[in-house]
Order: sequence, then C-alpha cells, then structure tokens
Amino acid sequence: MSDYSIEFKNLVKIFGQSTILDNLNFGIHKNKITTILGFSGAGKTTLMKHILGLTMPTSGDVLVLGTAINHLDELALREFRRNFGMVFQYAALFDFLTSFENVAFPLREFTKMSEEQIQEKVLKLLDSVGISREAAYRLPSELSGGMRKRVGLARGLALDPHIMLYDEPTSGLDPITTHMVYDLMRDTHYNNVHHGFTSVIISHDIHATLKYSDYIVFMEKGRVVEHLDVESFKKSENPVIRRFLEL
Ligand SMILES: Nc1ncnc2c1ncn2[C@@H]1O[C@H](COP(=O)(O)OP(=O)(O)O)[C@@H](O)[C@H]1O
Ligand SMILES: [Mg+2]
Repeated sequence: MSDYSIEFKNLVKIFGQSTILDNLNFGIHKNKITTILGFSGAGKTTLMKHILGLTMPTSGDVLVLGTAINHLDELALREFRRNFGMVFQYAALFDFLTSFENVAFPLREFTKMSEEQIQEKVLKLLDSVGISREAAYRLPSELSGGMRKRVGLARGLALDPHIMLYDEPTSGLDPITTHMVYDLMRDTHYNNVHHGFTSVIISHDIHATLKYSDYIVFMEKGRVVEHLDVESFKKSENPVIRRFLEL
C-alpha cells in the first residue's frame, strides 16, 4: 500500500485563460496532519475541491485511498465522499436544527441506523468534542463561535471518515478560539489515527501551522514551492518561505 492517502498526478486545472493548478505531482501522507499553506489565490481551495471531486481536473488524476476519483460517476462519487469529513470556514450548520440534529443529519441521510443507535452515536460525538448535553439541544444561534466549530467538527466525524479536510477553519476567530480549534483538530486526529486517519488543513496561520502540522505544503500560483516535514520547513532557505515565515 502507498504511504499516501491522497496523490496528485500531473494535475492541471485551467479556468478560462488562467492555469490555477500547474501540473501538481505530490502525495499527502497517510495518518499525518498536513497543512496546505499559501497566500490568498494560490489555489488551495481549488486543490481541496479536487480531493472531494467537486471540481474535475483539466488533465491529470487525483487518487484518494488508491481510487482515481476523477473517473468515478456521480453516484459512485457520492458514495465515495463518505470517506471524507469536511469543516469549512463558516461552520455552515443548519441554523434551524439543534446541535444534536445537525450531527444526526448525515446519519439519517446516509445510513440505516435506528433512532436509538443515532441517539447513542450523536451524543458520543458531541461528547468527544466537548459539547454538553444541555448544549446539544440548543440552536446554532444560541452557541458561541467556538461551540459552533465543535458541532461542525462532530458532524464532519459522523460517518467515521478516513480523511478530514479543513478549509481555513479558524479564519475570523479570536486567538483563544483559534487555539482551541487547533487543539480539537489535533485531538481528533490522534483519537482516530488507529483506524487510519489523515488530516488536511488549509491555512494561512503560520504560527499554528508550525505548531500542529507534521507536513507542510507551500503553494504559490498553482505550484508547490516546498513540501517538507515541519522541522525541515522551518529551516527552508527558499526566499518565498523565508518571507512568509517572517510575516
Ligand atoms: N470556479 C472558478 N472559476 C474561475 N476562477 C476560479 C474559480 N475558482 C477559483 N478560481 C480562481 O483560482 C485562483 C485560486 O483560487 P483558490 O483556489 O480559491 O485560492 P486560495 O484558496 O488559495 O485562496 C483564484 O485566482 C481564483 O479567482
Ligand atoms: Mg481558499
């Protein structure tokens, strides 16, 4: 088996006249925390959409857990996406559903679990991210920003994914909440790694990235400038990286 849970092979994405992903060839290490770092517009979100099969390559392949997902049809893709949990910048909870019902949603949609099994699973998930019983029955509008993130993470974990994807999960959060979210992502990673679990975080927060990642992929203008373990990254002599580290 490959050391990578995700691999990009000659991946090119062109929008109109612009090359957004410029012939990417690299892998994301299995069972590790990898951060995709780079300035706004580098192509990070576009790359993540390729991992999910939400955007298809202009050419090249995206292998996820050994499957070229750009060759799956809509139905197979929908089924395949159960391997992923996602947390986006705005927690994107359904604001008319309680925390409990937000987390139960994917279980109701994608599994045939009984009401009793759902009850048990949801409360366990909420517990694992530090949401109390009382908060489980509140609406998102009645929760703090940090608590909404926790509920979003619990929902992302509902289907026992093998890959968690986070796109700028801490944008717009205060420093204390940011720290809490990173701790939560790390705890989630280590609580699940025994059954195979890869975490991919898109970020532009250099300090948190250096503290929490195993590997860093630095993107600029649709290319990978560096892909290194965190200790090597800190020592990189690349002027683009130095400039970013000194910000
Ligand atoms: N659907 C699209 N159509 C045209 N251009 C797009 C589309 N999605 C992204 N882009 C362009 O691709 C570039 C990279 O965007 P994105 O992947 O969102 O960057 P990042 O997440 O690193 O900030 C930007 O110049 C953006 O305008
Ligand atoms: Mg983005």
